[in-house]
Amino acid sequence: MALLTLRGLTKRFGGLPAVDGIDLDVDTGEIVALIGPNGAGKTTLLSLVAGIVPPTACTTFRFGDRDLVGAAVHEVRHAGIGTVRQAPTRFPSMSVREEVAVGARFGRAETLDHRTALHRADEVLDLVGLREQAAAPVTSLTLHGTRLLGLARALAGRPDLLLLDEPMAGLTPGELEHAIALIRALRDEHGLTVLWVEHVMPAVDLLAERVVVMDVGRVLAEGDPAEVRRDPAVIAAYLGVPDAGPAGWAGAPGAAPSEEGGPRAGGA
Ligand SMILES: Nc1ncnc2c1ncn2[C@@H]1O[C@H](COP(=O)(O)OP(=O)(O)O)[C@@H](O)[C@H]1O
Ligand SMILES: [Mg+2]
Repeated sequence: MALLTLRGLTKRFGGLPAVDGIDLDVDTGEIVALIGPNGAGKTTLLSLVAGIVPPTACTTFRFGDRDLVGAAVHEVRHAGIGTVRQAPTRFPSMSVREEVAVGARFGRAETLDHRTALHRADEVLDLVGLREQAAAPVTSLTLHGTRLLGLARALAGRPDLLLLDEPMAGLTPGELEHAIALIRALRDEHGLTVLWVEHVMPAVDLLAERVVVMDVGRVLAEGDPAEVRRDPAVIAAYLGVPDAGPAGWAGAPGAAPSEEGGPRAGGA
């Protein structure tokens, strides 16, 4: 059943469409990866769903039984959509636990006292593996730790749908393994639905049931990872944008045919 339904979603910046009439459905419990060359409109699409930027046009934005056309960012959060931006704003004076507690208090439409918010923060810090850093200043975290903090902050608001913007970029192999297992567990054990922008294609292969490929603001193709990888339109879109090909996607557009590396294999 569709949890999220978008029709005719459009955003123009100064007349130029960044998102150009997108129709998209995401079913409850799906992990959907959104890929595409740089500038395709992926981040803008997430920002539109998150209510961070208003659409230029949108005929349908349904989330569960709610109509969210034109909804503001707090209304989107209250409805149960959690967002982890590529470079989340942090509160530099706070501890990890305090910052996650902020997420708890500004998530779902519910009133939480500070104690309850801190308790919920501890629960999600356990879940993402940051419990030991709970008392540390947010500025002390590594890149991966900072990503986990952003995720924990979103999770503390008890979302049904998570929007993630390139959560795997720049991680070490060990961190990547942790991030993949975590997202899988969020879906399998906690019932979350995930709409996820990613360039790290091995992770997409492992996690996504469905891949939606965007190019110049439109949906170019969609299907399972193997189908999409073979799609001539997808290959053409990546070949048209040197260095923007999906890194590490075996046999993918952009991957070198025979040897490691190659001109378009190093997108990340
Ligand atoms: N705030 C903005 N103002 C003007 N143009 C923007 C803004 N945000 C994005 N764009 C433009 O919209 C297009 C899509 O950008 P973006 O959504 O960031 O793509 P992606 O995340 O797929 O790389 C790009 O051409 C980008 O320059
Ligand atoms: Mg982006």
